[in-house]
Amino acid sequence: MVSEVGGNIGLAVPVVLDTDPGIDDAVALMLALASPGEIDLVGISTVGGNIGRQGTFENAHRLLQLFGREGVPVGFGWGVEADTPAARHIHGMDGLGETGLPLSGEPEKIPSVELMARLAAAHAGRLNLVAVGPLTNVAALLREFPESKGQISRIVVMGGAVKRSGNVTPSAEFNIYKDPESAAEVFASGIPLLLVPLDATLKALFPPGRLARFDSLRSPQGEFFRRLLRFHFKASKEALSLEGSFLHDPLAVAALIAPELLKCEPVHCVVETRGEWTRGMTLCDFRHGSKKRKTPNIEVAVDADGEGFLDLLCERLMAFLSNFED
Ligand code: BDR
Ligand code: CA
Repeated sequence: MVSEVGGNIGLAVPVVLDTDPGIDDAVALMLALASPGEIDLVGISTVGGNIGRQGTFENAHRLLQLFGREGVPVGFGWGVEADTPAARHIHGMDGLGETGLPLSGEPEKIPSVELMARLAAAHAGRLNLVAVGPLTNVAALLREFPESKGQISRIVVMGGAVKRSGNVTPSAEFNIYKDPESAAEVFASGIPLLLVPLDATLKALFPPGRLARFDSLRSPQGEFFRRLLRFHFKASKEALSLEGSFLHDPLAVAALIAPELLKCEPVHCVVETRGEWTRGMTLCDFRHGSKKRKTPNIEVAVDADGEGFLDLLCERLMAFLSNFED
């Protein structure tokens, strides 16, 4: 698809979003839908994470119905049925900030791995997989459909913490901590992989003041977005003493829209699966100049232009949500 959006002329990249919605997952999906010049969203692969897998599957459908994009296929994924109390607190009992978004019908459950395999074959050599939940589905895809390895162009992963503490334990970030074995398999797969860790996402605190720009919106979609973020602000204040909230997942989507927002470097990175205190740690070899330094196997975003990202996010979302106004 050749298209023109916001002055950008180019080829939109086919993208599958592997996700566990999740408040910031919902915002990541909105950013993808708001960016047709760069992103052709060909499918959503849901996975258990922030809430159980039944809930994340239904939430993906709720969001697509709200935004009138029911044509995007949704996979039903692996992962826990149950949830994590801390994630419930940050994302709400329903995973979407207790916004009470309705779901109509009973969506068909295509397995996520089958959907991804089909889309990888259909877009061989071009498909970008943006994974913003635990990597359970992605590892299962590579195991069950090994031919996908040669078909996926790149995997962008929101996860890990490479030069700083994690957010679940001092050493581990949520998405990796939830399923370190799968993450280890994906990192070692040889598929080009860009890791967008907390080191980058924590550069962009969305302050409550930025939401004022969306006050004029009257549509259910605009109202939903405000309620989603207000819930996240309140939960982030209670749990983390923050004035505002970190929206991790949309930064991984932004990597496809405006890669210059991220400062990336190639590095060798492994996932700790056995450590008593370090399970889920993303251990990177930053021994620059040393002969012992291991050959890089991934790229990692070690820094980000937080304000630039928030500007892009707000501009795209405002333009997207304005489409739903009368
Ligand atoms: C990640 O954990 C989840 O709670 C968020 O959706 C994000 O993907 C951040 O650590
Ligand atoms: Ca997520």
